[in-house]
Amino acid sequence: MNVLIVGAGGREYSIGLALKKDDAVEKLYFAPGNGASDTLGENISISDFNELADFVESNGIDLTIVGPEGPLVDGIVDTFQARGLAIFGPSKAAAQLEGSKIFMKNFLARHSVPTAAYIETDSLEKAYKFINTLQAPIVVKADGLCGGKGVIIAQSQDEAKKAAGEMLSGNSFGDAGTSIVVEEFLDGYELSVFAICDGKDFVVLPAAQDHKKLLNDDQGPNTGGMGAYAPTPLVNDEIYRKLDERVIKPTLKGMEEEGMPFTGVLFIGVMVVNGEPIILEYNVRFGDPECEELMPLLKSPASELFYKAAVGDLKSASIEFYDKYAVGVVMASKDYPYKSSQAAEIIIDDIVHDNIEADAHISFAGVSRGDDGKLFATGGRVLVCVGMGDSITQAHERAYMLCGQIHFIGKQCRTDIAYQALQLEE
Ligand code: AMP
Ligand code: GLY
Repeated sequence: MNVLIVGAGGREYSIGLALKKDDAVEKLYFAPGNGASDTLGENISISDFNELADFVESNGIDLTIVGPEGPLVDGIVDTFQARGLAIFGPSKAAAQLEGSKIFMKNFLARHSVPTAAYIETDSLEKAYKFINTLQAPIVVKADGLCGGKGVIIAQSQDEAKKAAGEMLSGNSFGDAGTSIVVEEFLDGYELSVFAICDGKDFVVLPAAQDHKKLLNDDQGPNTGGMGAYAPTPLVNDEIYRKLDERVIKPTLKGMEEEGMPFTGVLFIGVMVVNGEPIILEYNVRFGDPECEELMPLLKSPASELFYKAAVGDLKSASIEFYDKYAVGVVMASKDYPYKSSQAAEIIIDDIVHDNIEADAHISFAGVSRGDDGKLFATGGRVLVCVGMGDSITQAHERAYMLCGQIHFIGKQCRTDIAYQALQLEE
């Protein structure tokens, strides 16, 4: 099978790594890929959906997997499906679950999926009225896609009103913020749960935990994610059962009933409050960096999982995971997440330690290859060091040993990834 992966990040690179070790896969393509994905397959620079579908047809590509939300929300799946091409991801209509927070919250309410109490509005007066009924902290969210920045956790009613005012006037997020969601703050711990869906059936992957803040102890500004691990011991069979029954099944049924069956990855942002999973948000793609830990935990062939989900035949797939843990530590460039940084050459020491050679690897993200073949850090999140092990402690140690062997000017990473799980293992 030949496979095209759409996207350029560490998430797409890790999907490439999983497919690379799959005997059923012959050739991989990335559109556009990054400066390291050319070692796994061929990078192609086509972004127009119809031109990409032409490329798929003329190169005998059997399956396309879409990494980021942008092309999904813009309808890449609809274009490919109209031409009879197998593609993994939701349609434009189904991608609204991520593309519009208002759509998502109203959908959850219609189908009685547990979520924070909220209002959606484009009226400042209505927003103020609801804010007056809430105790701080208060959460204010822009409706549309804001690259992960559209959520304000206000520490007072005044701050919440200010945030609502700035969003509604278009000052903070342009058109993405001219409608907003105001909701109650949920106090608990966060999980990232992923269900691979084929419209009707689903497979739940081991639950992961991301670390969104830039600095140790969850301090500093929000980022796309500075590290993750899976499976997390913070989830138990009871939580998985509640997620199946109260969240995933009603969501798939509801999407089908509303004429937009959900195919692809349903990324469920969960807050566990007193043992109850409450939904913070849906995304319609893998989390990054969660994908980088989940892909190496997949024991059965990655092509089977993605292809059968894409063609509506997950029921016939037998999906297995290794009984192991994975910890991923993001290395980011100097000025992340504030601004882009100057390109910096990446030097990787010779890997001499057996455990690192066998049980740790790099998933490359914001990197470019120079004319001389050297690799440069050119993006915000540059790469992810992933360690595998029989415990989180072991996986964590291997991930950080690998981090110690990678150098570029200005590199920054958190040193406490998986701290909540490590405390439980002690
Ligand atoms: P979202 O994009 O909706 O997932 O929000 C981004 C982050 O803001 C989440 O990962 C949470 O850490 C936080 N957040 C969002 N909504 C809430 C809420 N209702 N209560 C507490 N934290 C929240
Ligand atoms: N790591 C969280 C996200 O991809 O949105």
